[in-house]
Amino acid sequence: MNDILIAYYSMGGNTRRVAEEIRAATGADMEEIREPKPRRGLRGVVGALFDATLRRRPAILAGAHAPADYDLLVIGGPIWASRLAAPVRTFAERNATQAKKVAFFCTEGGKGADVAGRPPRRAASFRCPSQST
Ligand SMILES: Cc1cc2nc3c(=O)[nH]c(=O)nc-3n(C[C@H](O)[C@H](O)[C@H](O)COP(=O)(O)O)c2cc1C
Repeated sequence: MNDILIAYYSMGGNTRRVAEEIRAATGADMEEIREPKPRRGLRGVVGALFDATLRRRPAILAGAHAPADYDLLVIGGPIWASRLAAPVRTFAERNATQAKKVAFFCTEGGKGADVAGRPPRRAASFRCPSQST
């Protein structure tokens, strides 16, 4: 077992790509935060906007790794409506206090990374293949 666990949620693949880059650089264990019913299409996007705006904590599936076993838990997810993606909120509330140390990363279209009420410690820009401009 490794001493770093990356737990990420991704609806469209951007956050997964960043999580995989972090794993490649660190050799961390990795786990996807998954919901019982994956969000898809327009219905998925509208539901995501509501859940984030209302700060809902949707159900997520149990993970295969125990965050308490790791020295560092890295939690990642997209920004939805200038807030944490709702499944990330569920995961963070459930697990962040169990881990010895916690780091967060997020991906966004351009606005909202200050979800903790202050700017991120580090910010980097990536161009995703799906972006045309
Ligand atoms: C429902 C929804 C709401 C979003 N809200 C924001 C936002 O408020 N600010 C922003 O910069 N990007 C926003 N985005 C863009 C995503 O944060 C961005 O594309 C992210 O990289 C998606 O990650 P994923 O591909 O791992 O799901 C939103 C995307 C979705 C689907």
